[in-house]
Amino acid sequence: MEIRKAVLPVAGLGTRFLPATKAQPKEMLPIVDKPLVQYAVEEVAASGVPLAIFVTGRGKDAIEDHFDVSFELEQMLAGRGKEEMLRQVQSVSGLVQMTYVRQKNPLGLGHAILVARDLVGEEPFAVLLSDDIIDSETPCLRQMIDVFTRYGRSVVAIQRVERRAVSSYGVIKGHAVVDHNWKGRLFRITDMVEKPQPRQAPSNLAIIGRYILTPAIFKELSATGRGAGSEIQLTDALHRLLEKEPIYGYVFEGQRYDAGDKLGFLQATVEIALKRPELGKPFRKYLKSLKL
Ligand code: UTP
Repeated sequence: MEIRKAVLPVAGLGTRFLPATKAQPKEMLPIVDKPLVQYAVEEVAASGVPLAIFVTGRGKDAIEDHFDVSFELEQMLAGRGKEEMLRQVQSVSGLVQMTYVRQKNPLGLGHAILVARDLVGEEPFAVLLSDDIIDSETPCLRQMIDVFTRYGRSVVAIQRVERRAVSSYGVIKGHAVVDHNWKGRLFRITDMVEKPQPRQAPSNLAIIGRYILTPAIFKELSATGRGAGSEIQLTDALHRLLEKEPIYGYVFEGQRYDAGDKLGFLQATVEIALKRPELGKPFRKYLKSLKL
């Protein structure tokens, strides 16, 4: 079965970036010259998924505007002969088809996904958190779709993290799937623990912001009460789903930046700038000149 829909929850309050996020969405903060959410939508497009469903909320209009056609701006750029800029601006609105649904109260990631239920319907779908920027040859989502195509079950992206960092993540317990295709990267999950203390963690395999979910998750989400932080947690619903059907964890290939955190945001900015052809050289020179 194909993955035709990607849900992008963008209705959170972004408190870790206050005051920057007081009057603008966190997802619109730029890494070099593109907002966080654009990296995620580009990944959706590059993975061959035709529809992005944004779960938005109050104060998030800038996201809709960003992906809309900007008639005046395009006219102005065309009139001034700025062809390259015009091409860039136009490509943003043409990445994939987009639709929007509103989460009236930011009651948590699990709740945000539940809000998209009617738009998703009874089919498997992807979820991308735009805080996680993943730089990889094959898009992370595409890698996960390949796993889904083989097994037809939910797949969560996982990453090995340092032991002391596990308490910031959902952590899986599982056994590696013996199949040379996956080069030891695929795990059949047997349990998951939300934000464990390092000594209690079942592994150092942390769940990050990419998921492929079967529609059975909606039933579990609707039965999930408020958990940690008084929010409806996706991990709690995944835990329930695990009792009913298999879930796989896939250690994706690529470099992930946690841009939802200030330090991770800065790291993403520096590393992505260094990789840009037009910026890399002068920026490296500048960084080297700093007496650190
Ligand atoms: P985060 O856990 O990073 O929360 O959400 P947040 O509110 O964005 O940021 P902080 O922690 O307060 O700084 C992960 C993703 O899920 C979305 C967010 O917009 C973000 O893209 N989200 C979160 C929702 O759409 N609704 C929610 O109720 C919570």
